Amino acid sequence: MNYQLALKKEIAAFLNCEVEEVILTWKGRVSLFGILKSLKLQENDEIIIPAFTCVVVPNAIIYNNLKPVYVDVDPKTYNIEISKIENAITNRTKVILAQNTFGLSSDMDALKVIAKKHNLFVIEDCTHGFGGSYKNHLNGTTVDAAFFSSQWNKMFSTGIGGFAIIKNPILREKMNEFERQLVTPSLKDEIVLKIQLFAKNILGYKALYWNALKLYRYLSKKNIVIGSSSGGEMGSTEMPTDYLKGLSNVQCKKGVFEVKRIKDNVTFRQNIAKYYDNILIDLGKEKLFAPPYAEHTYTKYPILVKDRDFFLQEAEKYKLPIHDWFISQIHPIKEDFQKWFLIPNKYPISEKLANHIVNLPTDFSVNNNLKKRIADFLEIQRSQIVSFEEL
Ligand SMILES: Cc1ncc(COP(=O)(O)O)c(C=O)c1O
Repeated sequence: MNYQLALKKEIAAFLNCEVEEVILTWKGRVSLFGILKSLKLQENDEIIIPAFTCVVVPNAIIYNNLKPVYVDVDPKTYNIEISKIENAITNRTKVILAQNTFGLSSDMDALKVIAKKHNLFVIEDCTHGFGGSYKNHLNGTTVDAAFFSSQWNKMFSTGIGGFAIIKNPILREKMNEFERQLVTPSLKDEIVLKIQLFAKNILGYKALYWNALKLYRYLSKKNIVIGSSSGGEMGSTEMPTDYLKGLSNVQCKKGVFEVKRIKDNVTFRQNIAKYYDNILIDLGKEKLFAPPYAEHTYTKYPILVKDRDFFLQEAEKYKLPIHDWFISQIHPIKEDFQKWFLIPNKYPISEKLANHIVNLPTDFSVNNNLKKRIADFLEIQRSQIVSFEEL
């Protein structure tokens, strides 16, 4: 059985594109790396990205000898502030990267007007937004290239994993070549991933969650289990040696199962989001902004709190899986921002968001019992929950 082809077919059927337009990679970041490589840009050409992202995004840019240029975000959408993009454009700018932060598409029409005016490529970072849409077009389907992630925290999980869809025909050929050159994951990779997927499946958000998470983070830092990022990616801007890998059979098999149920997955998360909306409204707080132009996938449900450390410590006491995600502008990096070309204090909105955000879970593991416990916790912590304007 060709598991890679089976997954490509499933993705192509869902996104209504050609099988040849789908590229599979070990992680989403590898897809981004390949897309940028395929663009054949000049050294130090500039890629515009939101100043509220994951460090692996600027890493993939820097590994290509290109330069990330950050633009602050909109506090309501957590996405790039479109009105600030033009100020960041120079004669070296080649790409705007539009991110679906926490599952919400950027305002693509407005973004594309700027891209067209300055003759720039648009890459969509759909790592949080698989299954969502912008004005009835599925995320990732209206741009030159888009990439997706199936890492633990994303819309669906194959442990780790990623893929791209490439609409631009010139780019597609180069990406097909890039994919052919990726190293096949080893048998050890497959076995370790299989064990991790099995453990995660059993564990869900049960009482052991916090201990398991701490253990997983420790072991992945030491490169003992397959983590979302290797220790090296967090401390340096050198490309790790085993970065350029393809997607293994284990991941593809799980991927086929998950893509088949992606619509149910999105609906499930939207219902959980509605539940959180209502809790917040009942507590007299602002619910998460959801603009009419997009179908939000709610990979997570972000809220802002006054004292995040305190809030998370309390959540841990109650054994609640409230996530510390995007706790830095280039998550999870806390220092040496300049290494990633990020100038401290230049992007006040992203900085504030990164200091005060926590994320509520929305995935299939959230059962009625957990929903109720989260509701009770939010009520107890009511005074901690704030709007952006109150910070
Ligand atoms: C915004 C964003 N882009 C890209 C990625 C990379 O995805 P992957 O972990 O599959 O490489 C992540 C991962 O967390 C992310 O949050």
